[in-house]
Amino acid sequence: MRLLSLLLFHTLVWPMHSTKGSCELLPQWRVVVGASQLSQRGPEAQVRSIKQVVLHERYEPRMESNDIALLELEQPIECNDYAQPACLPSAMAEVSNLSHCYISGWGVTQETSLETADILQEAKVHLIDITTCNSSRWYNGAIASNNLCAGYEQGGIDSCQGDSGGPLMCTKERSKRFWVIGVTSWGLGCAKAQRPGVYSSTQHFHDWILGKVRPRPRTRTGPCPSAQSSLSDFFRKLNEFLQGLKGKGT
Ligand SMILES: *[C@@H]1O[C@H](CO)[C@@H](O)[C@H](O)[C@H]1NC(C)=O
Ligand SMILES: *[C@@H]1O[C@H](CO)[C@@H](O)[C@H](O)[C@H]1NC(C)=O
Repeated sequence: MRLLSLLLFHTLVWPMHSTKGSCELLPQWRVVVGASQLSQRGPEAQVRSIKQVVLHERYEPRMESNDIALLELEQPIECNDYAQPACLPSAMAEVSNLSHCYISGWGVTQETSLETADILQEAKVHLIDITTCNSSRWYNGAIASNNLCAGYEQGGIDSCQGDSGGPLMCTKERSKRFWVIGVTSWGLGCAKAQRPGVYSSTQHFHDWILGKVRPRPRTRTGPCPSAQSSLSDFFRKLNEFLQGLKGKGT
């Protein structure tokens, strides 16, 4: 997935599994922000290389647990009409109160498709209660407490291969802010009934993220109330393209 969430204008949240076996290619990776069509990036696009990847120490590939990593960019992203910050929910935030949620990415638009989308796709999804999602007819115990499920019980709309790393971002009525509450991680197939997308919950990794991001003096006030998080500078519209990377893990 190419729409990543940028932290402090400088660090991206990224699903751990997408870095598997790819680290030797790191010098070739590029993060592209502010583009919606990959084949025709406009002059608004900002391209960055990656300084550092911070993997989660307890990532466990078999269950895709702790599927999160941070990317530090060589240069910060500049805010403009095409690159805007979003918020990171604190441990206290009631994420389920954010009633309007969206996923986005350049992943495949059909499960069997081999070609990823050229134009950024976005879809509205519902948060699905984690107990329901973990129940026998759904994911039957595969859901961890640091996951979120989002989609539709009947399927039909979902993230898919190539969407990993993208945001599950939510807002509420009459709010201008978006919170990146999840990072696209995995799913069984795509858009099947009772097999919604599974996301790493950024709220659950809040302390981990804070601990990894080097403290920087805050020279500007973020768009979020400071009570929400000191890490309020997530990007909403951060359209990035990491060349040669695919994979919503299965
Ligand atoms: C979340 O929603 C519940 C019920 O609608 C409300 O009582 C609670 O105050 C809300 N919490 C926040 C943080 O807005
Ligand atoms: C999901 O179910 C499994 C097996 O019963 C359990 O180990 C796990 O903790 C459950 N996850 C959540 C979020 O409750």
